[in-house]
Amino acid sequence: MGMTWGYGKADRAESLATIHRALDLGVTLFDTADIYGPFLNEELVGEALAGHRQEVVLATKCGLQVPDASVFHHDASKFSLTRNGSPEHILKSCDDSLRRLRTDYIDLYQLHRVDPQVPIEETVGAFASLVKAGKVRHIGLSECTVDELSRAHQVYPITTVQSELSLWTRDVLSEVLPFCQQHEIGFLPFSPLGRGFLTGHFDQASNFKKEDFRSLLPRFQPEALKTNVRIVEAVKDLAKRKEAAPAQIALAWVLALGENVVPIPGASKRNHLEENLGGAHIQLTKEELLSLNELPAPMGGRY
Ligand SMILES: NC(=O)c1ccc[n+]([C@@H]2O[C@H](COP(=O)([O-])OP(=O)(O)OC[C@H]3O[C@@H](n4cnc5c(N)ncnc54)[C@H](OP(=O)(O)O)[C@@H]3O)[C@@H](O)[C@H]2O)c1
Repeated sequence: MGMTWGYGKADRAESLATIHRALDLGVTLFDTADIYGPFLNEELVGEALAGHRQEVVLATKCGLQVPDASVFHHDASKFSLTRNGSPEHILKSCDDSLRRLRTDYIDLYQLHRVDPQVPIEETVGAFASLVKAGKVRHIGLSECTVDELSRAHQVYPITTVQSELSLWTRDVLSEVLPFCQQHEIGFLPFSPLGRGFLTGHFDQASNFKKEDFRSLLPRFQPEALKTNVRIVEAVKDLAKRKEAAPAQIALAWVLALGENVVPIPGASKRNHLEENLGGAHIQLTKEELLSLNELPAPMGGRY
């Protein structure tokens, strides 16, 4: 996402090089969405993965629309998203994504947000018809409730749920993740690095440009940052003791949540990618997990 959307302008050449480095290092799962850019991210991913299609699990999403895309890149406060879960929109979005991704099938097609105007059964019915047509292999949901997930799962087996989950966002631990575990549904934690915060690269004096979406988020406001640095200081301390990077600790904590949990950290730079992959080799002891579980809750909502 961050290669084309969200956190200010990223370098395109470095983004492409990062995807290629990921392939070289054995990364197989790539997550994108039509709305990122909008559309530019899928084009970038399609370009980067050309010739590598068989080696990867390609995940994308639909169901969100942005009325005026041009404004977003200059001023994040002007941007607004709308939901569209109508079958017509899902079917058309899939064909458009296939074209941009330069492929004839999507491994994991996810509904980005549930549309309250359209019964989830109807939306998932459209996804199921895409599986039948051979355009999609598996279906996923993003940021759904247990009720929506359970209803969707009765229409067609849901393979994954994607929601925010990290050391400072744990809402899904109470219901959604246990439901996924009971029903053998994969879980993809998004923003597992707390949108960069848990890497230790920000402090209470950090400020964000207006084209950076974080400039709007409650947790990144100056007052909240003052409190929230306590969280990352504790992560940094543990990282130092384990001769690891804070980002690696944040990812190791997420990975320790279960076999079905596969975090999707975002990185648009090769050095970040390489550091993050090291998180897969960090083993946290019971005591270390306990100390991370007891970190204070952040100040400020996640949106
Ligand atoms: N379903 C949804 O609604 C939803 C919402 C948000 C995100 N997502 C998915 O989740 C993915 C990841 O989420 P995210 O990008 O929001 O958040 P994230 O993975 O928590 O953090 C990404 C940010 O951290 C920085 N970063 C990454 N590794 C770093 C390192 N080792 N050291 C320092 N900084 C580092 C990145 O910078 P650089 O770019 O400079 O490397 C970027 O600014 C997205 O790409 C997207 O596929 C889904």
